[in-house]
Amino acid sequence: MKSLPKVELHTHLEGAAPPAFIRGLAQEKGMDISGVFAPDGGYAFKDFWHFLKVYEAATSTLTTPEDYHRLTLAVLEESAAHGVIYTESFMSPDFCGGRDLSAWREYLHAIQEAAAQAEAQMGIILRAVVTCVRHFGPEKARETALCAAETAGDFITGFGMGGDEQSGKQGDFAWAFDCAREAGLRLTTHAGEWGGPQSIRDALDDLRVERIGHGVRAIEDDALVDHLAEREIVLEVCPGSNIALGLYPDWQDHPIERLRERGVKVTISTDDPPFFHTTMTREYDRLADAFGWNEDSFRDFNIVAAHAAFCDTETRARVL
Ligand code: HPA
Ligand code: ZN
Repeated sequence: MKSLPKVELHTHLEGAAPPAFIRGLAQEKGMDISGVFAPDGGYAFKDFWHFLKVYEAATSTLTTPEDYHRLTLAVLEESAAHGVIYTESFMSPDFCGGRDLSAWREYLHAIQEAAAQAEAQMGIILRAVVTCVRHFGPEKARETALCAAETAGDFITGFGMGGDEQSGKQGDFAWAFDCAREAGLRLTTHAGEWGGPQSIRDALDDLRVERIGHGVRAIEDDALVDHLAEREIVLEVCPGSNIALGLYPDWQDHPIERLRERGVKVTISTDDPPFFHTTMTREYDRLADAFGWNEDSFRDFNIVAAHAAFCDTETRARVL
């Protein structure tokens, strides 16, 4: 499974940071973030909401464009080692210069330089989905969307929203999504993970996104499952993340197979791999064990993912 070529659509750049990398940065800067780590050296949190706090504490060590350059290289090296040939990562101007456009451009420059280096050395392609953070509220999302719109292009190809799905309503963020759409960005949002089926309907109706981050709780609503299948809405499913956070008790209980059987376009991603003790190889291995999927099944998933990727046709052709 490790060497099978993989297309990944849903990761968070800071959430993919190896814990040793973050610990090293904290030491260099004399920052005390010991609460972030478990005794085994991994990240420690007790539930999703605590995870968001630990994520923000870990991210506080990333204070310069140079830090993001190093982070991007470390993350892409790890992904490439697991056969990932194309990856889309959520990036937040909130954490990269505080939504200030000139600072954001500097961070972006550093990230893109690292991406070019990784592509030349390891063949892995990175594209960016600028993301607003839902619990930071609609006004900050508006500033984030303006940063995204100003820097939209070959590298920044999408706009999305992460954070606490139970904070506010999807529709509160419509201005930000409209702004991003008008700038030519492709759209996705987290929904149907901590919110129920209605959060997915709201994402489609109020934000008019073409993909859904997670979306797995559509399984609780038959009519919605049919609607997703008919409209060919792609779900960025992150099974290991859902299981690590207790959304489903075990791999066999995960709805990805039932959604696929009912014609929904599902893809496989890691979300925040070291936080959830996972990798793309581990996702494939566990799914193969749980559902009897083989290399051909995973090839099909990767074709779906490549077609749903927020990249231009030339890039897609290199991935397919
Ligand atoms: N889900 C929602 N928001 C996030 C995540 C996540 O996994 N990681 C960082 N922000
Ligand atoms: Zn996510």
